[in-house]
Amino acid sequence: MNRQSLIIDCDPGVDDAVALMLAFGAGEFELLAITAVGGNVPVGKTARNARMLRQIAGREDVPVFMGADRPLRREPAGAGEFHGAEGLGDLTPFEPDAPCADGHAVDAIIDLVMTRPARSVALAVMGPMTNLALALRKAPGLAERLGPVAVMGGARSEGGNITASAEFNIWADPDAAAEVLASGCDAVLFGLDATHQVRATEQRIAALETIGTAKAETAASMMRFSQRIEREIVGWDAPPVHDPCPVAWLLKPELFELARCHIRVETESDLTRGHTAVEFREAVAGTLPHRWATSTDADGVFALIAAATGAAGTI
Ligand code: RIB
Ligand code: CA
Repeated sequence: MNRQSLIIDCDPGVDDAVALMLAFGAGEFELLAITAVGGNVPVGKTARNARMLRQIAGREDVPVFMGADRPLRREPAGAGEFHGAEGLGDLTPFEPDAPCADGHAVDAIIDLVMTRPARSVALAVMGPMTNLALALRKAPGLAERLGPVAVMGGARSEGGNITASAEFNIWADPDAAAEVLASGCDAVLFGLDATHQVRATEQRIAALETIGTAKAETAASMMRFSQRIEREIVGWDAPPVHDPCPVAWLLKPELFELARCHIRVETESDLTRGHTAVEFREAVAGTLPHRWATSTDADGVFALIAAATGAAGTI
């Protein structure tokens, strides 16, 4: 099997955790690295959480690099109310056996991409885009060398989740998102229009709980936490599971409908900071360099999660 080389940039985070369990269990990936960024919780915790999840999944073969601890310009802002103070819901933190890899996440992204064939390394970004923006600043030619950059981020028809008009990852570091989208990399955004269709219903969570592996139990535990918290805060019975979407698209693109577009980000207004202006009209935009996910086969995404987390070991 010709495996897809993949770097996952994330801020675990309960839905990041589900995405990681999917990626760790899917045999189709050559997982080159996990790079942690400050987001839902500070980067010291997101890096520790990535190491915890790696150990639970038995994937210490995948290096974890610590990355940016703050946005390019804005003040750090977390989302602990939706992820728990430690970032992984009800999971009790422990000190993982394996440490972070030496070196900064930004340099790891650059080195891994620039030393492999052009367009051969995909990047899944499921937190603020700070690490990628810093890597693009530091390495001329990185944007053209990268494979697809599948991003969980953005708000359009569904409106926002952190403000009326912005989704958290873009809102947390709007300047980074703007620089990434202007860089020329092949950005595919899975915003709330797509991820709000992927709901952790009671039936789907219960199905994961019958699998009996550590990966499946961990994914289900994260969803149970979100189910409880989002019922309390938002009044939803079935919380959206955002971050597996970019990974699911890399595994099975037919699960998503994408539309060519030009996406720009509001970076100045405090009222609409982080809003993603998604223009589908070439006559208006001039060029349509990005793609925006407009619909998702949620059953298909959950089938991938069940299959990957049920897999005993796939190194
Ligand atoms: O808006 C959802 C995104 O913000 C997800 O990546 C979640 O983990 C939080 O980071
Ligand atoms: Ca995330």
